[in-house]
Amino acid sequence: MPDTLEKVAQTDQKSPGQMKLVELGDERNLVVNLEGEFHAVDEVCSHAFAPLSEGGLSGEEVECPLHGGVFSVKSGEALSPPPSEGLTVYSIRVEGNDILVGPPN
Ligand code: FES
Repeated sequence: MPDTLEKVAQTDQKSPGQMKLVELGDERNLVVNLEGEFHAVDEVCSHAFAPLSEGGLSGEEVECPLHGGVFSVKSGEALSPPPSEGLTVYSIRVEGNDILVGPPN
């Protein structure tokens, strides 16, 4: 993960309620548009490393496609087992049409 914010996408590429996998260095991040507010968390499930970008998004909750664990994309908190560990939340900023993601909050 770079020390600074890096452009990963454009706001017009993601409608509200959509999520996108972005790769920054060795990290896989999930960028989510919640009603025009953007959030970034780990894209890899903390339980057994499934890709959350292939899961389902319902409101601010993403459900893992492998065992159905649920996380908040705002706080990273694990809301439903089997995961007991949450996701890292990353800094995110919108500048014009650009979405920038950076180090963990
Ligand atoms: S890998 Fe995500 S809940 Fe098991």
